[in-house]
Amino acid sequence: MKNIEWEKLAFGYTKTNYNVRCYYKDGVWGELEVSSSDTIPIHMAATCLHYGQEAFEGLKAFRGKDNKIRVFRWDENHKRMMNSAKGIMMAEVPENIFWEACKKVIQLNRDFVPPFGTGAAFYLRPLLIGTGAQVGVKAANEYLFMIFGTPVGPYFKEGFKPVNIQIVRDADRAAPLGTGVYKVGGNYAASLLSGHKVHEAGFAAALYLDAKEKKYIDECGPANFFGIKNNTYVTPKSSSILPSITNKSLMTLAEDMGLKVERRQIPVEELAEFTECGACGTAAVISPIGKIVDIQGDGKEYVFSKNGEAGEVSKKLYARLQGIQYGEMEDKFNWVSFVD
Ligand code: PLP
Ligand code: COI
Repeated sequence: MKNIEWEKLAFGYTKTNYNVRCYYKDGVWGELEVSSSDTIPIHMAATCLHYGQEAFEGLKAFRGKDNKIRVFRWDENHKRMMNSAKGIMMAEVPENIFWEACKKVIQLNRDFVPPFGTGAAFYLRPLLIGTGAQVGVKAANEYLFMIFGTPVGPYFKEGFKPVNIQIVRDADRAAPLGTGVYKVGGNYAASLLSGHKVHEAGFAAALYLDAKEKKYIDECGPANFFGIKNNTYVTPKSSSILPSITNKSLMTLAEDMGLKVERRQIPVEELAEFTECGACGTAAVISPIGKIVDIQGDGKEYVFSKNGEAGEVSKKLYARLQGIQYGEMEDKFNWVSFVD
């Protein structure tokens, strides 16, 4: 095991031993290649650099008490990445290449998969980019698919403690019929400035509203949003948010715990009715929301936690999700794949 202070890890890049790469040329994918370099030589007219032909994914591998390494719902990340690929006209990566690449990155960097009980995990970052040169606005003929991995701690420094969030009204992350449902770089570029401003103002993340009417909740920085009221898990239905695999899993777990699940538009004013709210995603897991402020709107503050603790339902959902991920609880829905 590497000499890393696992408990202190933030969500950032640590260099590991190897990454894996696969090139698409003349209509076919080549063999998986292993690289120990963390740079990519690239044509200066590559479409990923000019026209945003770039999609990525994020998934985690967890080391259990039994020392086994479990990867969470990689098939969902593959499906979503292929949806992103279709959406911005990139070559599609076959499922077997995706999974072989996940396994190889983990196996070659085994020592970087954090020990059980440290709260850290091994984050896999699949990346698909247009590498072929074009000067006109067209899709590339050549692509690179690669995965690197890095050990990570919590996305929000608060960990599983409530964070404060600001509603953004002076910027949109994605248009109703735009690319919000794809995990493509352009959406993140569109969120950088507003994200920076809310951080500067002391908030952990931006809450985006629907771009058309600014009436409904969209999502929460790099995470989906959920609210709890009357034994119901409520999460936005929107054509401009990323379909989160964590959120999909929480909906299943919530139902399994006897909650009702509603996926529908959530008007901002409904925030006043929730007893708990959270942001959820691979990086964030569940981040309970302490307070949401609408400084750019009517100035309202919606408070969900006064004692610095998550609500009871969020605690239960978090325990079930992490229990499955770290192999402490039964994998009732077959979400976990082992890597030897
Ligand atoms: N929304 C956005 C914009 C994201 O970047 C992410 C992270 O992947 C999520 C939501 C959460 O998705 P998932 O749970 O699949 O990680
Ligand atoms: C994730 O949750 O995996 C993400 O990709 C979020 C962010 C770091 C982009």
